[in-house]
Amino acid sequence: MTRVKITATGSYAPERVLRNSELEEMVDTSDKWIMERTGIRERRIAAASQTASDMAHEASKRALDSAGLSPSDLDMIIVATVSGDMPFPSTACLLQHKLDIKVTPAFDLNAACSGFVYGLAVADSLVRTGGYRRILLVGAEVLSRVTDWEDRTTCVLFGDGAGAVILEGTDEDRGILATHLHSDGSLGELLSIPAGGSRLPASRDTVAARQHFIKMRGNETFKVAVRALESVALETLEKAHVDPSQLSLLIPHQANLRIIQATASRLGLPMDKVMVNVDRYGNTSAASIPIALDEALKGGRIREGDLILLEAFGGGLTWASALIRW
Ligand code: ACO
Repeated sequence: MTRVKITATGSYAPERVLRNSELEEMVDTSDKWIMERTGIRERRIAAASQTASDMAHEASKRALDSAGLSPSDLDMIIVATVSGDMPFPSTACLLQHKLDIKVTPAFDLNAACSGFVYGLAVADSLVRTGGYRRILLVGAEVLSRVTDWEDRTTCVLFGDGAGAVILEGTDEDRGILATHLHSDGSLGELLSIPAGGSRLPASRDTVAARQHFIKMRGNETFKVAVRALESVALETLEKAHVDPSQLSLLIPHQANLRIIQATASRLGLPMDKVMVNVDRYGNTSAASIPIALDEALKGGRIREGDLILLEAFGGGLTWASALIRW
């Protein structure tokens, strides 16, 4: 085996659409501000009964169907999430149960919005060892449950959804060519959910202080994100001896259209070579890249042999890239 490739994709977004006009009724904001500053028009919100593992299950079934596989064909399940069903069991274990399989190892991975790309790097390594043949990697988030719907600086940004891929070894010279992972814990305070862990266990005080919701210093995060995404993209392309003009498609984490445009411009890429769906889903954290990948593939924007760059940035702080020959 020379490489590890994505053999199938699937995604799921809940039915409920929350438009900017509805947010205007909830907080002091406007469709104009949200569109200009973020490019987000609407986002999907999970039903009250839906959890991250439910959405992961839907996306996984679609990926398995598209591969013509059944759950028992899987060797491992990895779920990237920061809004799993509960602290433990892991969402991956809950998904495994929903898929009705038993022997597969299953675990969650937390690298916030970079989780899916981190997961690709982990799955790539594990399949290359020869120990695992076929891995299901899912990004699934119900950020609406950890969003402070009274905080206009964050509630306009996030949405819910899930995306899944199946990874397998191949003897062909295509698949994942390179991954690069980075983190800087000293900047963790820029973007966090402060309470609910061992530092600030859930109490009346933490609930009253709304500390179980996402807190973000958006403007500072924005500046770090633009620099980090440019540098990780250039690092990946340089090490692979690939010129940006050789890329068929950039699939960036969908957090903010301005960040996406800035990264594309720094790479000299025209926007028709960039996958954008942040307008319809907002920021779905670890789910954003697999949803965008699935849409790009089903929309005919990816052909065999294409060079594709995935890149993500998120809480931690973390940032990461994956160069793929499809
Ligand atoms: N509606 C109207 N006004 C608002 C809103 C809103 N929803 N939110 C903030 N404002 C106001 C602010 O209060 C501020 O007003 P002031 O000048 O009177 O103080 C003004 O708009 C500008 O605020 P900024 O925060 O400077 O706006 P900015 O242009 O930076 O846009 C945004 C904010 C969209 C959050 C941007 O900073 C951003 O996208 N940051 C990065 C997000 C990101 O990539 N996160 C990483 C991934 S997320 C994860 O890992 C889970």
